[in-house]
Amino acid sequence: MTQATPTSLTRAGQPADAGTATKKVFVKTYGCQMNVYDSERMGDALSRDGYQPVDSVEAADLVLINTCHIREKAAEKVYSQLGRLAQLKKRRNSEGGDLMVAVAGCVAQAEGEEMIRRAPVVDVVIGPQTYHRLPGALAKARNGERVVETEFPTEDKFDRLPDASAGTIRTRGVTAFLTVQEGCDKFCTFCVVPYTRGAEVSRPVERIMSEAERLAAAGVREVTLLGQNVNAWHGQGSDGREWGLGELVHRLAAIEGIDRIRYTTSHPRDMDDALINAHRDLPELMPYLHLPVQSGSDRILKAMNRRHTAAEYIRLVERIRMARPDIALSGDFIVGFPGETDEDFEDTMRLIREVNYAAAFSFKYSIRPGTPGAGMDGQVDEAVKSERLTRLQALINEQTRDFGRQCVGKTADLLLEKPGRNTDQLVGRSPWLQPVIVDAKAGKIGDIVNMRIMQTGSNGLYAEPVETQSGNQGAISFDS
Ligand code: SAH
Ligand code: SF4
Ligand code: F3S
Repeated sequence: MTQATPTSLTRAGQPADAGTATKKVFVKTYGCQMNVYDSERMGDALSRDGYQPVDSVEAADLVLINTCHIREKAAEKVYSQLGRLAQLKKRRNSEGGDLMVAVAGCVAQAEGEEMIRRAPVVDVVIGPQTYHRLPGALAKARNGERVVETEFPTEDKFDRLPDASAGTIRTRGVTAFLTVQEGCDKFCTFCVVPYTRGAEVSRPVERIMSEAERLAAAGVREVTLLGQNVNAWHGQGSDGREWGLGELVHRLAAIEGIDRIRYTTSHPRDMDDALINAHRDLPELMPYLHLPVQSGSDRILKAMNRRHTAAEYIRLVERIRMARPDIALSGDFIVGFPGETDEDFEDTMRLIREVNYAAAFSFKYSIRPGTPGAGMDGQVDEAVKSERLTRLQALINEQTRDFGRQCVGKTADLLLEKPGRNTDQLVGRSPWLQPVIVDAKAGKIGDIVNMRIMQTGSNGLYAEPVETQSGNQGAISFDS
């Protein structure tokens, strides 16, 4: 449902052919990789609509903010940015110009019309399931309407957003995200995602395959499959059978040009044998797995509605490591969930020590209105949360450093992704997702080169050609 309210704002200085003249859009993205992917797709749709991307608000006719609602601070940031945009718009209006503001993403979905009331600078509020309607919403906004699009429509936005076959996909570089699944039915008691992204939906096999083929044709060598519960993905396979993510990654790996596959984020409950075995059997599937556990206390896991125990998670990690011993594991942790005692927190620290992570993200519990956790007894004091977070992050940082150190001396295939900070360097990516700095002579962007990891530094690892490992360090500058 489109809710439009006439606006009293005049669009002074807007050329009569505003619909076709070259327009400039500045896109700011917050939140998860899915938002990054969505911003790219919206950018594609806008470029078909005559918009050119610019990298500053000052140069833009349209500012599109793709928002995240996962924690309180994220939404606050959006509103303070909207305050600054209101100032800019006022200035533009006084000079006879204008500025349009569109807000997308999970804050847009959660706030809806409230956003326009709280931040009248906003012209369009558009939720994650209606991005294909963005050009239409902007056209209405240009005619002075305020547009709020936050329903969960029956049509598939992916079918209606432009793709490479329409010639509108913009270059993505050598790595790309590809959304295969969206939404969540898990309802962890702390989390807004099931409300902002809606029910779990899997994209059909043929759409995923054709998007991957187009990305490969455009020079992409590594795809990261995205989903709020990516390993809950399932679909009708080309052989008539029901496929899970394990089967899908095998098919994607067979596409000419796709040399590396990653996926995120997985839920422990959906990690099945086919996917675990794919880590054993499929060299294209990179040895990195983001597998959030949130807490190491069974009492808290139950209150969080995670539907697994700490022991089940650890057993799962053992099975995954049996299949792929060098796999790098990462996780998410929440400290200070309502009712979390010192003992519960120590259980989390014990689990971290037992699993030994290569990386992890950790957060203080943030009350999200409307979620069951918000109304629970035993909300934890901010100071206690901070103290626990500091201790947890110190442990994780130590494990991350150790993981990096253990890589020193190994040879690894590095995908060269982008120029380095120094012109004589390139940044590659290890199979374990670490950035690796190499000499620019090692190859060109898009090459996969086998190199020896020589040293850890503050910006990542450093590698050298295998044949010069005996000490020709002159080719690479080390910063640590
Ligand atoms: N679907 C993914 C990602 C969810 S959001 C998953 O299930 O893991 C990413 C992370 O944000 C979560 O894993 C959780 O650690 C954190 N998070 C979500 N809601 C939160 C809240 N209310 N307070 C603090 N952290 C939260
Ligand atoms: Fe949120 Fe839990 Fe769903 Fe992840 S699984 S998106 S944490 S409700
Ligand atoms: Fe944030 Fe929405 Fe992603 S709340 S983490 S942008 S799914």
